Amino acid sequence: MNALPFHSGQIIDLPKVNDQRGNLTFIEGLSHVPFEIKRVYYLYDVPGGAERGGHAHKDLQQLMIAVAGSFDVTLDDGKQKTTVHLNRPYQGLYVSDMTWREMSNFSSGSVCLVLASTEYDESDYCRDYDAFLAAIARTNS
Ligand code: TYD
Repeated sequence: MNALPFHSGQIIDLPKVNDQRGNLTFIEGLSHVPFEIKRVYYLYDVPGGAERGGHAHKDLQQLMIAVAGSFDVTLDDGKQKTTVHLNRPYQGLYVSDMTWREMSNFSSGSVCLVLASTEYDESDYCRDYDAFLAAIARTNS
């Protein structure tokens, strides 16, 4: 297990049970991720060259996992951008609230599984980058 506290951009190594029949990975809320899991969604059949994301969330925390294939996630906290390549089903990328994210470079057949701390709420989205930067600046002032 990772030491607390979790930080945005952290790779979380998940349990992996390996036997001759294949691998099994499991995730428990408030144990492997620092939130209760309220929602699960997944991105699949992403066309080559497509980009997803392009927003932040005011409260939502997430764990992103490349359960098949690979893709890149660029995280931006308003000060610096970091790009992480996800390609292992037993690793998750923790993304906290107020982190701008963009996903790209999806490989053919890739699946991005997302565990989320809240149910879907469009009012939790920050889809305007300048508004996102302004909100970060207000938080830091
Ligand atoms: P969005 O979060 O913008 O996708 P991404 O960040 O992967 O590019 O969501 C795309 C659309 O799907 C948008 O119209 C909202 C809808 N949606 C739901 O209805 N429920 C959900 O749980 C999610 C994640 C999205």
